[in-house]
Order: sequence, then structure tokens, then C-alpha cells
Amino acid sequence: MADVFSLDNASEKLEALDAFIDVQPSKEDSLIAVLHKAQELFGYLPSEVQLYVSRKLNIPASKVYGVVSFYSYFSQEKRGENTINVCMGTACFVKGVDKVVDEFSKQLGIKFGETTPDGLFTMKDVRCIGACGLAPVVMVNEKVYGHVKAADVTTIIESYKNGERSE
Ligand code: FES
Repeated sequence: MADVFSLDNASEKLEALDAFIDVQPSKEDSLIAVLHKAQELFGYLPSEVQLYVSRKLNIPASKVYGVVSFYSYFSQEKRGENTINVCMGTACFVKGVDKVVDEFSKQLGIKFGETTPDGLFTMKDVRCIGACGLAPVVMVNEKVYGHVKAADVTTIIESYKNGERSE
């Protein structure tokens, strides 16, 4: 396994993480808060970071891994700057979301779970996000797009490429 220092700008990020850990009242009870902070700093929680947290908090690595894999909020894979969540729920499917997925895949060259080589986009499939009246629905970061058609895909991608609506 690679060392945590092999990650991008690891020293600065670890310094910030150490500072955060130092002000926690109880090391044992701060695991989730520390993992949140680590993900905010690194963008994801690879095994190197999990191991580092385990050592710093003196918590078994298996417990850290258990928490990371339990909460879907935590990601063990590197994500792009923007996450395109495509709803694959029934309403969206019936309204033809598959054509939207095909268009994203064609334009970005990625499938669900993959990230573009430039690190700008990750595409994920999600279950119903509770906006069925707007089907088909695509959520980019926190922004919801309703009634999306394949013809809208270029405009959506371009707006994030220009960084205007990155959140
Ligand atoms: S099925 Fe897509 S929002 Fe409900």
C-alpha cells in the first residue's frame, strides 16, 4: 500500500487534519468528524488516509474502514470536481433517462462510477431523489435539473467546464 505522503499536497492536508484532531475533546468519539474533515481535505478517503486516521486516533483500522463503508457520504474513490448524479428511479426511467445517460457517456467518455481523465466529472447512478414530477432528473453537485433531454447535455457539461456553476 502506498504511503499517505504519496497523495497530492499531503503534507499541508495532514497538517490541517492534525490541527483538527488536536482540538477534538475526545479522540475516540471524534472518528466521524475527523473522517468528514479528511474527506473535505483530500476529496475522498483512500486506504492510506484511513490508516493515518486510525493511527492518529488509536482506533483499529477495521473500525475506521467499517465506518467509511457504512456511510454512503464517504467515498473511497477519487471523485471528479463535479459529480453528475443521474436518477435511475422508475419515473425517470419511464421518461427516458437512458437517452440522457447515453449522451453523457458519449460526450464524456465515462460510464457510471467513472471519472473523466481531466478530473472534472464523475458520473453516478442514484435512486429516486424524490423529484419524480421533474423526471428525468439529473443532479450535478447540489443543483437539480428537471425534464432533462439528451439535447440539454452539452449545455449542462459546458456550464461546468467553464467553472461558472461549479459548487
Ligand atoms: S424516479 Fe427520478 S426523481 Fe423519482
